[in-house]
Amino acid sequence: MAKPLNVGMIGYGFMGKAHSNAYAQVNHFFDLAYRPVLKAVCARSADNAKKFADQWGYESIETDWRKLIARKDIDLIDICVPNNLHAEIAIAAAQNGKMILCEKPLSMNAAEGLKMVEAVEKAKVPNMVWYNYRRVPAVTFARQLIDEGRLGKVFHYRAKFLQDWTISADLPQGGTALWRLDAAAAGSGVTGDLLAHCIDTALWLNGPIANVSAMTETFIKERKHNLTGKVEKVGIDDACTFLGRFGNGSLATFESTRYARGHKALYTFEINGEKASIFWDLHDLHRLQYFDHKDEGKLRGWRSIHVTDHGGEHPYMNHWWVPGLAVGFEASFVHQVADFLDGVAKGKPAMPDFRDALRTQHVCDAVLASAKEGKWVNVAQG
Ligand SMILES: NC(=O)c1ccc[n+]([C@@H]2O[C@H](COP(=O)([O-])OP(=O)(O)OC[C@H]3O[C@@H](n4cnc5c(N)ncnc54)[C@H](O)[C@@H]3O)[C@@H](O)[C@H]2O)c1
Repeated sequence: MAKPLNVGMIGYGFMGKAHSNAYAQVNHFFDLAYRPVLKAVCARSADNAKKFADQWGYESIETDWRKLIARKDIDLIDICVPNNLHAEIAIAAAQNGKMILCEKPLSMNAAEGLKMVEAVEKAKVPNMVWYNYRRVPAVTFARQLIDEGRLGKVFHYRAKFLQDWTISADLPQGGTALWRLDAAAAGSGVTGDLLAHCIDTALWLNGPIANVSAMTETFIKERKHNLTGKVEKVGIDDACTFLGRFGNGSLATFESTRYARGHKALYTFEINGEKASIFWDLHDLHRLQYFDHKDEGKLRGWRSIHVTDHGGEHPYMNHWWVPGLAVGFEASFVHQVADFLDGVAKGKPAMPDFRDALRTQHVCDAVLASAKEGKWVNVAQG
């Protein structure tokens, strides 16, 4: 019998649902030593917390995250709230000896992130950050192909994350869901929100980024603030484009915007190596495009690999349906919980832990500093 592990989740929005679904599903599909128990959900409104708890099967509610963290019957704190709350909650949870799963980005900036890393390392509590794209089977498969040396020397890493939902000047900033437009809650705009995902995947697949040269733009300079009711200056970056150099000598080209009309969540990356290339697209997430130069010349071309095979050939897929049937966005969270619980059981932490996720904060800080100063900036390592 799997041992119960009591989860206390803070926040019940988009990620609150994605994580609750992962806890509910994980033991159905994976044989694990631990079984997450939906013990308590925390929200500021008791009514909303109760409604969410009833819908998802949480046993109890809290309206103050400090009370949740103090509870003896909670083993793990899951942080699913806006970015400005991550550090305070994570540090308090570590001091209370809780395991911590924290949504990305780890923190508002690297200095704050370092304090979080120090807190979890001092408390020796298992910790992880929800950079879930590493565990989309096609992306994990890309990593396997790279580890097998199939790409050879890498020349280019190109990533984009394009959306179009903030184009209207009438859209307010602040409050539920729209906290992303409020620099005080989000820290930054597309850099910490969307590019953080692209950067995490890139560091994982292609190693450290040494330096960057960036530009950012805020297209709508003022928006009404939902919390104050006043028109206020917009402090986030609406768009960010940066160039960089990886430690392995390859060139980085990254772009993110919420002003690419027609695109909802177009996360793509392409890696060009001396022997082969890889391309992945979130809109078609179960496929990996692969070009291998050693193929016979007349048949050479981009293959579209449906990453749904069984027999251990394609990562995670032997836990799901039959070959040929795909899994979606939500499965990446199930995989992440499975790996976390397996890591706890084996004493081998699943990545990215807080320290690993701090590396993305260093890149984000360098990108924002470069855009502000108009010059190349070295990325702090470690
Ligand atoms: N991994 C991913 O793919 C992914 C996707 C979206 C968001 N995120 C991250 O997840 C986090 C949450 O984003 P979201 O999209 O779920 O936001 P959301 O706006 O949908 O939900 C935020 C939740 O936090 C709650 N909240 C705010 N202040 C609180 C407080 N003081 N106490 C308790 N609850 C409070 C809100 O009521 C709401 O339930 C952010 O850090 C975001 O960057 C990650």
